[in-house]
Amino acid sequence: MTARVLSIANCKGGTGKSTTAVNVAAELAAEHFRVLVMDLDPQGHSGLGFGLAARLGQANAHAPLLGRRMDLRGAVLRSEEDEVDVLPADRSFDGQITNKGIRCLAEALEPLKPDYDLILLDVPPAAAALTVCALMASDGVIIPTTLDPLGLEGVRQFARSYHSLMLQHGAAVRGFAIAPMRIDLRSNVEKDVLGQLRTSFGPGQMIRGVRTDIAVSEAFARRQPVRRHRARARAAEDFRGVAADVVRRFSVEARESFPVMRGRVEGFVRTPWM
Ligand SMILES: Nc1ncnc2c1ncn2[C@@H]1O[C@H](COP(=O)(O)OP(=O)(O)OP(=O)(O)O)[C@@H](O)[C@H]1O
Ligand SMILES: [Mg+2]
Repeated sequence: MTARVLSIANCKGGTGKSTTAVNVAAELAAEHFRVLVMDLDPQGHSGLGFGLAARLGQANAHAPLLGRRMDLRGAVLRSEEDEVDVLPADRSFDGQITNKGIRCLAEALEPLKPDYDLILLDVPPAAAALTVCALMASDGVIIPTTLDPLGLEGVRQFARSYHSLMLQHGAAVRGFAIAPMRIDLRSNVEKDVLGQLRTSFGPGQMIRGVRTDIAVSEAFARRQPVRRHRARARAAEDFRGVAADVVRRFSVEARESFPVMRGRVEGFVRTPWM
């Protein structure tokens, strides 16, 4: 059994991709899944969320896109969360992909897969060529979105381009899961957008989401996942739900069997917005 690879992607910026990468990884690690976060955004946010960044001149997540044939295992950093490793971004990556092979990330990840149960790719917004490489390496896609009309448009656009890209390259279309972020259901607009997402994509493509919570930015400021900053924060609780849904939706399996833990992961109560 090797790792499942999931892209966390949305062509729209600021929808919660990096926050999802950090916190889903941390929640699953707490359930003894072994997780690698590959930070493909030169902003380096998901690495920074764990207090990690690549040092200048060291191997990093962008190396395969620049045609550098190196074993990425040497670039992996251990985070303070047991069971979460990070492949940090090249903060000077300028978006120019010099390796023309769209399977370059898929190939570079192969040697890492036996070491993990799940590899999460934090994909930058509006980076078409990089996104293609990430999708080619992935078994599925998590699409975090805000529940506003522009967010809805962003998901629709992403889903359309995902399908046409996969067709164009003769690749299988994988499942995706839409995760609402920064939820505030006091707003009628948000309720309406949630309804439209469900109607457009079907309830099976929706997973639980995360309510607006100041603990998210506080945790980032401390370079920690929310669960470590404030275990009882509602965002920590919500990310546990998202993590559980990701496990179910994409059949992620922990290498060793932890029946008690697994019971906990599957035992989440459905939250009111789903
Ligand atoms: N549940 C939440 N409650 C409050 N703030 C949140 C929540 N989720 C995310 N945020 C905030 O929203 C902002 C955007 O989140 P994030 O950086 O994860 O998005 P992104 O999609 O990775 O952005 P980019 O497209 O720039 O990579 C951040 O300031 C983050 O702290
Ligand atoms: Mg980001």
